[in-house]
Amino acid sequence: MPYYVKGLFLDTPEIGQIRARRGWALVEGDCLAAFRTDAPEGSQTPILDFGDQLILPGFTDLHLHAAQYAYCGTAMDVELIQWLRDYAYPEESRFADPAYAERQYALFVRDLKASATTRACIFASLHTDATLILMRQMEEAGLRGYVGKLAMNRNCPDTYREPSTEEGVRETERWLDACDAMGFSRVRPILTPRFIPSVTDDYMAALGRIARERNVPMQSHLSENRDEIAWVRSLCPDTRFYGEAYARWGLFGGDCPTVMAHCIYSGEAECALMKQNGVMIAHCPTSNENVIAGIAPAARYLRRGWRIGLGSDVSGGHTLNLFAVMMAAIQNSKIYWRYVSQLEKPLTVADTLYMATAGGGRFFGKVGLFEPGYQFDAVVLSEAGLNSTREFSPLERLERYVYRGSGNPQAKFCAGERIV
Ligand code: GUN
Ligand code: FE
Repeated sequence: MPYYVKGLFLDTPEIGQIRARRGWALVEGDCLAAFRTDAPEGSQTPILDFGDQLILPGFTDLHLHAAQYAYCGTAMDVELIQWLRDYAYPEESRFADPAYAERQYALFVRDLKASATTRACIFASLHTDATLILMRQMEEAGLRGYVGKLAMNRNCPDTYREPSTEEGVRETERWLDACDAMGFSRVRPILTPRFIPSVTDDYMAALGRIARERNVPMQSHLSENRDEIAWVRSLCPDTRFYGEAYARWGLFGGDCPTVMAHCIYSGEAECALMKQNGVMIAHCPTSNENVIAGIAPAARYLRRGWRIGLGSDVSGGHTLNLFAVMMAAIQNSKIYWRYVSQLEKPLTVADTLYMATAGGGRFFGKVGLFEPGYQFDAVVLSEAGLNSTREFSPLERLERYVYRGSGNPQAKFCAGERIV
């Protein structure tokens, strides 16, 4: 049944600019069919009237770890490699138990559903059955996204490692077959080699073959931490840069749609290949602060032609709330501008709204704008609690919501379905 949604719609058809329109969005099936600024008088089509409330495109969270959510908001005092060993691996290993996965993923999905995020690219754990549990729960919640069973067969504890390449490939195939058999319509699998230090060459080669044969995208981590980069250099002495250690297996954009998280220390050759291959960069500023990784040149990526969106990177990141990630992106870019390089002006609220919506949404096709033919993903904000004696422009209202509002949306639509 078609319906109208009325409110004050904000989106970003151009980088750096907010479009604000009061009006009625006509939703047909999973898409926005038309946007009108005059009232649909006499129409029989039902109207969901949100008055003058702000309505944004649903957010895309390009990078997060569902199996780390149990300890989200703790474990902030060490750098990446120690953090993985002491916090991430012990928690993720618990998902060997499907009953634990059922319980803990339910908490994750509940909170993701309540947030402004409608689409996500998610790392699960290395366990096939627990990954399928997460996918089923996402599907039932009406959320959309890619979910990955991790590939990890080296440089991690015996209690949390695939025993061999053969076993890893077998489980990956079993997982992909099960995804087909379970008939998911909202969630899809994504190949997920954790990062180069975790995966042997023959396993990477097999993942590259599977990506080609089955047409599956991939996600991973890239150039996040200096020790990590030195480690990759010693593990892959025949590559010129970190990204090449993925690219040589066909797992770096091009025919294989790819999300790479972080990209803080990417050099010119790595950046050039990312741009050429259309690799989607997941900028994760909250996580980059928490695990003391550094500051990515996000304004340059955004304005000089790279594909870029935002990632909460829970639980390196301390929150699923992408408004907080937008704020961190702006603040990080100011520090970068002050201390590192003045070539690009710091990010603005409009820039980060673009990254959270149209920027990252692109990984999912026509997602992230209120344009005819785009998937209707939308969140209706409630500004209760932000009262003031002042009048604010639409952009100022958004700005205040980013900096001060922490409430979840009052209503949420994903591909035309109302889920909150
Ligand atoms: N690199 C490899 N694994 C991880 C992870 O779980 N979190 C982050 N932030 N970086 C990683
Ligand atoms: Fe991560």
